[in-house]
Amino acid sequence: MRRPLVAGNWKMNGLPGSAAELRKMIDALEGGEHCDVLVCPPFPLIAQFVWDSADSGIEIGAQDCHFAENGAHTGDVSPALLAAVGASAVILGHSERRADHGEGDALVKAKAEAALAAKLLPVICVGETEAQRDSGAAESTVLAQLDGSLPNSAAIVVAYEPVWAIGTGRVPENHDIAAMHHAIRQAVVGRYGDAGQKIRLLYGGSVKPGNAKEIFAIEDVDGGLIGGASLKADDFLAIVAAA
Ligand code: PGA
Repeated sequence: MRRPLVAGNWKMNGLPGSAAELRKMIDALEGGEHCDVLVCPPFPLIAQFVWDSADSGIEIGAQDCHFAENGAHTGDVSPALLAAVGASAVILGHSERRADHGEGDALVKAKAEAALAAKLLPVICVGETEAQRDSGAAESTVLAQLDGSLPNSAAIVVAYEPVWAIGTGRVPENHDIAAMHHAIRQAVVGRYGDAGQKIRLLYGGSVKPGNAKEIFAIEDVDGGLIGGASLKADDFLAIVAAA
């Protein structure tokens, strides 16, 4: 049995009112949840959110990290520092990082290894563009991303996020989600053996309170990575309840 995980990716959002939204989530989730809950705010909010959510049912994570432990990398943040301020996870290889910052699979893998060394849980994102899906290359794209991005350890989470479903209100058909998650499961079992059965596979891309239950019921979907709907406590809590 894999314990579901619902992770909120706040992206470059947060102010104003962010602490109040987090407070609402904390008050509603007092631990002992049926699933793990992770909130990933922008870097400057992480330490405060860790403090605010202590002893609650919510873990705090980051949206990216560098692969080095420290050093001359202006503007970057190391996994060691994230762990030191109390983050427990880090999203890596999100399609917006891949597109905006030219991050490729090898870099994502290096970051994942570094995150693991710092005892952070890497949430490794993969997903095809609309053109790749239309040309029949969705699965081969995702499998190639996995091949290049996965670290040597199975202590990870994988998030499947079709690029064309992110922030668009469009969601793949259930059978397409099922097929991709099945392919990802086979890939991680092929890679890690039995440990691959324990890896949680999240779906991400326009998950809302209205579609979460249906999506989370799909085989091999072990929760979600939630963008827009994670910013509002009421929406996020409804999605957590659906997991
Ligand atoms: P969305 O974003 O839920 O706003 O579609 C998901 C993500 O990019 O992680």
